[in-house]
Amino acid sequence: MLMTAMFGSVILLVCVLGGHALDLLRAAVTSANPPPAPTVHCWCASYPNMTLCAWPEPSHAPLTRYIATYSERHGEPITEQCHLIPPGSSSSSSSEQVWLCQMLNLKLLTSYIINVTAVSSAGSSSYLASFMLEDIVKPDPPVDVQVSPRNTRNLLVEWSPPSTWSHLNIFPLKYQIMYQWENKGTPQSVNLGPFESTKVELKGLTPGRSYLFQVCAKELLGLGKCSHWSSPVNVTIPQAKS
Ligand SMILES: *[C@@H]1O[C@H](CO)[C@@H](O)[C@H](O)[C@H]1NC(C)=O
Ligand SMILES: *[C@@H]1O[C@H](CO)[C@@H](O)[C@H](O)[C@H]1NC(C)=O
Ligand SMILES: *[C@@H]1O[C@H](CO)[C@@H](O)[C@H](O)[C@H]1NC(C)=O
Repeated sequence: MLMTAMFGSVILLVCVLGGHALDLLRAAVTSANPPPAPTVHCWCASYPNMTLCAWPEPSHAPLTRYIATYSERHGEPITEQCHLIPPGSSSSSSSEQVWLCQMLNLKLLTSYIINVTAVSSAGSSSYLASFMLEDIVKPDPPVDVQVSPRNTRNLLVEWSPPSTWSHLNIFPLKYQIMYQWENKGTPQSVNLGPFESTKVELKGLTPGRSYLFQVCAKELLGLGKCSHWSSPVNVTIPQAKS
């Protein structure tokens, strides 16, 4: 009885909407199906002049091209082209298929608007965001992290600044160290810093225990964010000789 009533109302609905429904369907197929707006992430890997935006290449989208531009938010309405680097180019080493674009000669302490527009034969969608260079500073992680046990309690952690941070003498970096271990199956971790040097001696570690060490880099005055953590270095402190 209930089933019959439901079918009845569905049929009724279709009858009433019949003509319109077809029109809508046709509209969707021909032009109302633009590519999704890209999900864009921007950061400044070397203050003040290495600013990149990245977005993933959709895996099964129709042929899509991108127009990436930027302009000052409050200044003259001049639109600059962001220099596009397609996925798979030499400079993007990550395995994910990522588009990059590079912005040149950004002014300090100035609000910008970035516009990344995905265009396909079915239409276009834009990602729009505003940013200021100083807020999106994020160095690449430190490199060559080395951990050398000194004795059964102390060790030395050393690293090098990311080579992509090209104005180290004008804009120095500071660093944080994180080390992690397990105590009876429970993960523990300690964060140290900031340090302005590129080596630190740590004391009071536990003989025989394994630790994972990582380092991140941040602009000295605190602009933006700390880098991603460097890849972990696993070190086992030697056992005390009995
Ligand atoms: C920006 O970087 C380019 C290339 O690395 C360099 O030639 C230029 O001198 C830099 N400009 C400034 C203002 O640091
Ligand atoms: C973003 O860029 C596209 C392509 O150049 C353009 O058609 C659109 O008007 C721009 N949007 C804004 C808000 O400037
Ligand atoms: C670190 O090395 C020790 C000793 O080789 C090993 O037991 C431990 O599982 C390693 N830890 C991690 C997180 O890889």
